Amino acid sequence: MASETVRIKNIGLRGVAVADTKISYIDGENGVLIYRGYRIEELAEESTFVETAFLLLNGYLPKGGELERFERQIVQSRELPGFVLESLEKFPVSADPMDVLQACVPMLAIADPELNDDSKEANIRKAVRLIARFPAVVAAWHRIRNGEKPLPPDYALPHAANFLWQLTGEKPSREIAHDFDVCLILHADHTFNASTFACREVVSTRAHLYAGVSAGVGALSGSLHGGANSRVMKMLLQIESEIKSVDEIGAWVKNMIQSDRKIMGMGHAVYKTDDPRAKILKQMSRRLAKETGHEKWYEYLARIEEEGHKELSARGKPGIRTNVDFYSGSVYAMMGAPIDVMTPVFAISRIAGWCAHIIEEKFAEAQDKPALYRPEAEYVGHYCGVVGCTYEPVKARE
Ligand SMILES: CC(C)(COP(=O)(O)OP(=O)(O)OC[C@H]1O[C@@H](n2cnc3c(N)ncnc32)[C@H](O)[C@@H]1OP(=O)(O)O)[C@@H](O)C(=O)NCCC(=O)NCCS
Repeated sequence: MASETVRIKNIGLRGVAVADTKISYIDGENGVLIYRGYRIEELAEESTFVETAFLLLNGYLPKGGELERFERQIVQSRELPGFVLESLEKFPVSADPMDVLQACVPMLAIADPELNDDSKEANIRKAVRLIARFPAVVAAWHRIRNGEKPLPPDYALPHAANFLWQLTGEKPSREIAHDFDVCLILHADHTFNASTFACREVVSTRAHLYAGVSAGVGALSGSLHGGANSRVMKMLLQIESEIKSVDEIGAWVKNMIQSDRKIMGMGHAVYKTDDPRAKILKQMSRRLAKETGHEKWYEYLARIEEEGHKELSARGKPGIRTNVDFYSGSVYAMMGAPIDVMTPVFAISRIAGWCAHIIEEKFAEAQDKPALYRPEAEYVGHYCGVVGCTYEPVKARE
């Protein structure tokens, strides 16, 4: 008897497990996020981004001299290849930083002496180079488009502080550098989100790590994914220019929801309660707002959150809560990052998770992953049976 193919239609793959992963886990009902067994709150409190990146890539917290060695490898890889910097000088200054970042990924691939070594060890070394160089690309492009020379890395500064220095030309305070490092930890991984799935899907064809990362950057740029943080900031600035007092926020939120428009930074495909990252960022946003004199931003955001939740709950959608992007935009703005650099900042962090997933995809046991992702689509287009429609020469077509 011929075997029957079971066809299941699930638009957007919601709720469908397509592989096994040991990297991160989300309990969307209870608002829990775990990297390699550790809760995000604990990592944000105790770890550093570089240590978290080691954890994601290797599966365990570094022991003995491993962390020092890993940090040293990242610091030593900070410098961009000369031809990448020269290319950046030639890009049109209007280019979006996410497009520029994506354009640089294949250039970094070409510059990688181990590009064709697909061993696990070589892939981890490629990941280290990308973790080190993503911040350098984002900072260099930001300066070049503003007519400034890119700054050389400061090898004495830790990862997060060095990025802020290369971006703004000012050495950040210890507190700001620490807050930024926490933001990087919070964004470093998030299971099979759209960009991570894109990375894994691409490397399942046995393409190299850089090809996967390039797809990830493209997916992250969309406003329903990483692009949401900058959209929240634009929304905030627009509200600030349109309303006179925080008391008008309720009407603004009602109007948005009544007219079926989405409030950026709210809602999530997996969380049906508070996103644990948003809770940490909310506290950070409140503290930074006080320190930098942007109390109004925090006040407005907190009110949008409150009114949004109230309004959506009244419509039977209590699970639409603030996500990681809701407060992160304001946090980055208060640290001096321009709006269109906010999504690239997300990428500077998520590169750690992408690489961990790519390596898992390449080296997991065969039973834990597909040989190649190859879903199907239901064909709902024009159809004339298996014989096909009659082809008419162009002149005969009406
Ligand atoms: C992230 C997102 C795509 C999740 O999508 P999802 O789980 O598929 O949820 P849906 O888009 O199907 O939304 C379910 C319902 O809630 C509503 N909803 C979801 N997010 C909303 C938001 N931010 N503002 C207002 N309503 C929202 C939808 O309109 C939909 O209503 P309906 O059932 O009456 O059609 C969605 O919440 C969104 O677009 N959010 C804004 C963008 C954002 O912040 N993205 C970053 C994610 S980390």
